[in-house]
Amino acid sequence: MTTLRDELASGAASLAQAGCETPRLDAELLLAEVLRTDRAGLVIANSTRLTGDQRTRYMALLTRRAMREPVAYILGRREFRRLSLAVDPRVLVPRPETELLVEVGLELPSGARVVDVGTGSGAVALALKDERPDLVVTGIERDRAALAVARANTQRLRLDVRWVEADLLDDRTAYDAVIANLPYVREGESLPPEVSEFEPASALFAGPDGLAAIRRLVAIVGDREEVSTVALEIGAEQGAAVSELVAGAGFGSVEVRRDLAGDDRVVVGRR
Ligand SMILES: C[S@@+](CC[C@H](N)C(=O)[O-])C[C@H]1O[C@@H](n2cnc3c(N)ncnc32)[C@H](O)[C@@H]1O
Repeated sequence: MTTLRDELASGAASLAQAGCETPRLDAELLLAEVLRTDRAGLVIANSTRLTGDQRTRYMALLTRRAMREPVAYILGRREFRRLSLAVDPRVLVPRPETELLVEVGLELPSGARVVDVGTGSGAVALALKDERPDLVVTGIERDRAALAVARANTQRLRLDVRWVEADLLDDRTAYDAVIANLPYVREGESLPPEVSEFEPASALFAGPDGLAAIRRLVAIVGDREEVSTVALEIGAEQGAAVSELVAGAGFGSVEVRRDLAGDDRVVVGRR
């Protein structure tokens, strides 16, 4: 008799063979989706069996994952801070390290006007509004298709965020804080298939050194005297270069924060 335990073991083995980094976790998430339960529910049911329909569906999801499609796109959602966000290939899958940007936003004074530039799914803007309803939050996105995902998330989550379709800070509104996870990957850098084959290139690449978008944004923010805080997500090797840009734009205090892996991940400038 093939139990859920066996289904998980064979699913995880096939994902491991396909090169997935977390095969057991992925198989559990896909099986839980088929059974409309969570990973704890799988443990309780681990000696039961799948129906024929459930097995067909589980196999279909495993096949997609074995082609290296991200689990978040297969499930159509990703958890970020306290929220479950709808995601699809129009937007980057929000990453745990991006939660560092939210933490900077949580330090802002009451009522601060904050903008999340390059909002994608709306992850940073929505998490900030969820955890700090007093903040006045705007999300800016250049890509109309991505902005539609952010708007759909806000309607479902009923959070009061203003969305603007614009190139960087083109909307000319005054902000106290500018927070951004813009593209920062060098053109030509090799990436895992989950990223290179499924996530939008426009959310990833930013010129030969990966700093094209950040450089433009810092130049704009430097001229906006009302902006007292800027926080930028960066690649692990970009801490020194981006700190220099931010200091050069007139931010007297510049700090680099590390992620859980110990890599430089966010540059925060204050004035
Ligand atoms: C790395 S993704 C981050 C998405 C989201 N903030 C997150 O952390 O999950 C970068 C986003 O910035 C957007 N973007 C790139 N260049 C932009 C620009 N010049 N103005 C506004 N948005 C831009 C991309 O379309 C993409 O959605």
